[in-house]
Amino acid sequence: MAKILEKERLNSQVCRFQVEAPEVAKKAQAGQFVILRLDEKGERIPLTICGHDKNKGIVTIIAQEIGKSTAKLCTLNKGDVIQDFIGPLGVPTHLDKFGKVICIGGGVGIAEIYPGAKALKEKGNSITVIIGTKTKELLILEEELKQVADRVLIATDDGSYQQKGFVTDVLKQLLEKEKFDKCFAVGPNVMMKAVCDMTRPYNLSTLVSLSANMVDATGMCGTCRVTVGGEVKFTCVDGPEFNGHKVDFNELTTRDKRFVKQEKESLELFKQCQRH
Ligand code: FES
Repeated sequence: MAKILEKERLNSQVCRFQVEAPEVAKKAQAGQFVILRLDEKGERIPLTICGHDKNKGIVTIIAQEIGKSTAKLCTLNKGDVIQDFIGPLGVPTHLDKFGKVICIGGGVGIAEIYPGAKALKEKGNSITVIIGTKTKELLILEEELKQVADRVLIATDDGSYQQKGFVTDVLKQLLEKEKFDKCFAVGPNVMMKAVCDMTRPYNLSTLVSLSANMVDATGMCGTCRVTVGGEVKFTCVDGPEFNGHKVDFNELTTRDKRFVKQEKESLELFKQCQRH
């Protein structure tokens, strides 16, 4: 069991939690995730570890209401308890002094690039961050990222804040005039695919962090499988980060469509129940 020590709503869809989880905090590294379950019958929710404090035994997670379980999580408050909080899981981000690194986050993927950008900065890299959301209201962690990055560039689809357009519009402008040594992108599959298509001609090594549906998170059930470089990999044990230039995004998107539809339906049902 893990107690929620703090809860903060970052926008109408996204919440940040500080959770008491000393065993997870002790070992957590950038790029890893936890699996949580709200109660005995709850489904397993994989969430990136957005921060951790080894001394205080606290882990930070950020959740977006995309389905029934994440919506239910966002109804919890300070003092409430999460039944299972397992981790850290997954392979940590490979940290090195690469040089000029560009970190790109789309939507709630912004929460996932934060720990990577912070850790890569601590390794002595120069960090450029590009973040993007549909509209200004959905933007998260702008101030936190400004604390760890050398510069933060922002795009909103509707032009309500900073540059109008997508993160790839900003990326295109940068790649035309600057050279980078590493790229790290997290967001919807369509965004990560577009980033990889853009960095490939520049031979810019690009890591993506995949958010797959998971059941056992031990590499046994196959739910989170993905094809990378022609080989089957499991996001839970081989990832979640992979060489983006080798990921079969078409296969991934086709499979995910089914889950996204289910998530939307379950979220709608949950919200209807809340209203009555
Ligand atoms: Fe079952 Fe990854 S969740 S193999």
